Amino acid sequence: MPGLYSDDILNEIARANDIVEVVSQYFPLKRAGKEYKALCPFHAEKSPSFYVNPAKQIFKCFGCGRGGGVFNFVMAKENVTFPEAVRMLADRAGIDLGSRARAEEGAGRRRQVRDVLEWAAQRFQAGLAHPTAGAPGREYLDSRAIAPETIAAFRIGYAPAGWDNLIRAAGRDDIGIDLLEQAGLVIRREDGGYYDRFRGRVMFPILDTLTRPIAFGGRALGDEQPKYLNSPETAIFHKGEALYGLAQARAGIEAEKRAVVVEGYFDVVLPHQAGVKHVVATLGTALTEEHVRALKRYADDVVLVFDSDLAGQRAADRGVELFLAADVKISIAVVPQGKDPYDFCRAEGAEAFRALLAAARDALRFKWDLAAEEFGAAAGPAAQRRALEAMLASIARAPVFARADLRLQRDLILGHMSRVLGIAEETLRSEFSRLRRTAGRAAAGTQQGAALSEQVARGGRRWIKERELMTVLVCRPSWLENVMPVLPPDRVADAQFRRLYESLASNPTCPDGDIESIVLRIEDTELASLAVELFERGEAQQACRDAADTGPGPLGEMLAAAVADLKDMQDEAELAARRRAAGAGETGGAEALRAFAESRVQHQGFVPPAARRRGDLGDVTREGDARQGDARQG
Ligand code: UTP
Ligand code: MN
Repeated sequence: MPGLYSDDILNEIARANDIVEVVSQYFPLKRAGKEYKALCPFHAEKSPSFYVNPAKQIFKCFGCGRGGGVFNFVMAKENVTFPEAVRMLADRAGIDLGSRARAEEGAGRRRQVRDVLEWAAQRFQAGLAHPTAGAPGREYLDSRAIAPETIAAFRIGYAPAGWDNLIRAAGRDDIGIDLLEQAGLVIRREDGGYYDRFRGRVMFPILDTLTRPIAFGGRALGDEQPKYLNSPETAIFHKGEALYGLAQARAGIEAEKRAVVVEGYFDVVLPHQAGVKHVVATLGTALTEEHVRALKRYADDVVLVFDSDLAGQRAADRGVELFLAADVKISIAVVPQGKDPYDFCRAEGAEAFRALLAAARDALRFKWDLAAEEFGAAAGPAAQRRALEAMLASIARAPVFARADLRLQRDLILGHMSRVLGIAEETLRSEFSRLRRTAGRAAAGTQQGAALSEQVARGGRRWIKERELMTVLVCRPSWLENVMPVLPPDRVADAQFRRLYESLASNPTCPDGDIESIVLRIEDTELASLAVELFERGEAQQACRDAADTGPGPLGEMLAAAVADLKDMQDEAELAARRRAAGAGETGGAEALRAFAESRVQHQGFVPPAARRRGDLGDVTREGDARQGDARQG
């Protein structure tokens, strides 16, 4: 799988992030010989079975089987994708991910943009505090019942009226106009001049989780349009990912184990002031997967608050999909009478708002209630059935129901639906497969067949041999070139093994005995865990070797046997198939059968390349240690 990042960059980032240091940032590690151990963060346990190996730069839990390199650890711990984990660790080490040529410049630029945004936030705060120029802003905030402590906590400011207040201040502070433009603070005129973007507006800085301003939202004081003016997208601001108030709400979300998502700036600020501190807002966009992922770092339970049933319904449709994708509990609360949380909180108080949040309905339940109402389901079983069909039909279109590899997720969803709707899981299951059949998805059937035969194969003789094959390849990737022509990845039956094989094959430069360089390129957590498990298994095998033995060694022998057996099994299967075809009177069948039987003979002379290779696994590992040690000290 060709990744987003070059091997050079991945290596550089991995070298700059020692796995022991990275893991230790999350929880303490205890030394245990050459390794470190701790209670596994990924499953509940009483005695530590989670190990970090500094020499190999991998982690491994002998309890739950989770393992991998430093990227896989961050993925699992932070609940982020591979590219995000790479980005976070690059950030941690101060490595810029922009194109190589512009790397230096890009990092410097972004830092400057951040600095200028911080500068602007302070200017706007000073603007609000200004005895005369700030008065309109203070009056407006006062009219909306925002207290001084809240203004301070959210760093709310004011950009006075006028076309060039900020530009002139920048001149005085020696800040270039191009930087103001890159920060989205000024707009270029057709004729080449510039003017301030934010004029006569109350300014809400949007902070990242490190409480640095990354953008602003400006509220007009009266009926000027637009009511809210936001910063444009910049190098550091992406509207579809940012959440207003997250920096201030983080602690509250963790304390409540729940995040509340509202629509507006004031919908965040006023509840916070009233003591409801786990509220964030999207910036005038629908909730995205990125939002959910950002929230999931702090809570698995998200409540969306809307000001009408219609808005709620649209969100419910979307929310169900997000739930399906992210495995987050998403529920929906509607503020009555078209009010928004700000109005409601101000009129009814914080306790009423809390009660409203407590009454939030699961997004699926919400969807169901609306469908039930629409179809008059209360009228009887027939209408109820139609409502259910309509709802399931819309859910069945979600990708999770069309892909065989997402079976586990699908089962979780079915279980959840069954609990929420009070309908037996079996009923839902058969309803879904009926919907899929009528949708005419011929492929679904064959995929199911493949999944079944894979399940049967697991644990069987072929599976065991394939595991031996993969064990050797993970320990000695350099042998790939000899194995590939005889037994290419597409001949491997187990899907996980096949994917691991393909991943190894796509990256032919991995040195033998260096599991780190293998897992660094594996984006899938399960696959990385599998690679580590096989590597440990192979090393244990290799350790049994008699020191005087100069033959191919246990790994070489294992490979030769595995390849021969797998070839045999495949040939037998193929032979049987051809025999059936020949028996069925297919033209030329007997001929083909004879040709095939002859060709078999040629397959049998496979010799593992071990004898031709330098050192054994132990030597290579020690070399690897020295290399890593040097690199890390340097
Ligand atoms: P609303 O129009 O509901 O604003 O937009 P509000 O929060 O109720 O505003 P107040 O209470 O009248 O001050 C909700 C959100 O949509 C985005 C803003 O993020 C706003 O908080 N929005 C709205 C814009 O970006 N631009 C607009 O012109 C309006
Ligand atoms: Mn509103």
